Amino acid sequence: MRQVGFVFFLLVLFSCQKTSPSLCDSDKELKDIASFPIGTTEDDVVANWTTAIGGKYFNRITSENVLKMDRLAQSPDSFDFFPLAKMSREANNAGYEALHVHTVIWHKQLPQWISNYPSQELDDVLTRYCREYAKAISQTELIRITGIDVVNEALNEDGTYRNNLWFQSMGRNYILKAFREFSSLDPNFKLFYNDFNLALNPIKLDAALDLCDWLRSQGVRVDGIGTQMHINIHEPSANDLAQAFEKIISRGYEVHVSELDISINPYNKIEASSDKLLQQQAEKFHEVFRLYSELPKKYQYGITLWGIGDGDSWIPTEFKRFDAPLVFDQNYSKKPAYCSCLRALEK
Ligand code: XIL
Repeated sequence: MRQVGFVFFLLVLFSCQKTSPSLCDSDKELKDIASFPIGTTEDDVVANWTTAIGGKYFNRITSENVLKMDRLAQSPDSFDFFPLAKMSREANNAGYEALHVHTVIWHKQLPQWISNYPSQELDDVLTRYCREYAKAISQTELIRITGIDVVNEALNEDGTYRNNLWFQSMGRNYILKAFREFSSLDPNFKLFYNDFNLALNPIKLDAALDLCDWLRSQGVRVDGIGTQMHINIHEPSANDLAQAFEKIISRGYEVHVSELDISINPYNKIEASSDKLLQQQAEKFHEVFRLYSELPKKYQYGITLWGIGDGDSWIPTEFKRFDAPLVFDQNYSKKPAYCSCLRALEK
């Protein structure tokens, strides 16, 4: 009798110890299931790369901050690309297969010296910086670099050119000059124009496409468009997303969903998340992944999430509000959004 009792006790014990079921139906990870690269960023948050965790879920990493001009251009004539070498080694160690370079020419995160630099001499700085950047990329061996955001955010919402310091010096030719320096690289390094609100604002998307067509007409290479995709649970609609993707590919450009995060608090009205909001967020992530996965393969450069855990997102710091826009929570546990992305790709 005692033995029967012991066996019963063991049975109860084992059934209690059964590992808690995974939140997702599938035990596979995003990178294992996707037919296109799945990217993330973690360079600033996990500054000590030995703790990098994304290689388990993602197969490509984008440089969130370490390859911006303020980190690489110490003075007008000394550029140091050591951060690229360091990142490529450490991303490889962390299990990533590929690296996307973000971003060469932008109007933010510039070195301090540039604000006092004579405008008429910026032309020369831009050319030399891009030339050396391209060389450093072509010499990177420790990880496969698949693409480069050559120019970031050159347009206003009304489709006009942003009046940044590059534009003030060279007009729109600064964009052409930058792409020209990268155009002779091996075509396996895809060249991107990257900007935000493209799925929300058709005027801006049309302007981006016209800009890229103009660049091509000038004989430089532009392979694709990065649609940053800092969006929220309310918009853009599935229809807007589908139309934006369709428009980009119909003009012959690859699509990179390059900085995906989906805000649950775009109007700064709440201070915590709820099951309902997480569900709405999961549905919007599902839409993005489903619509993207339906594009012809040759236009799919991949989807990149702008960070891993909610605690690492740039949004709360940048916009000074509570948010939880990513697919892992603060403790790097999977959120419903992670599972919905998986489900969107499983079909
Ligand atoms: C953000 C980074 O995520 C932050 O860590 C940094 O403080 C500011 O820049 N569009 C871009 C990215 O192209 O480079 C920005 O990244 C987010 C908006």
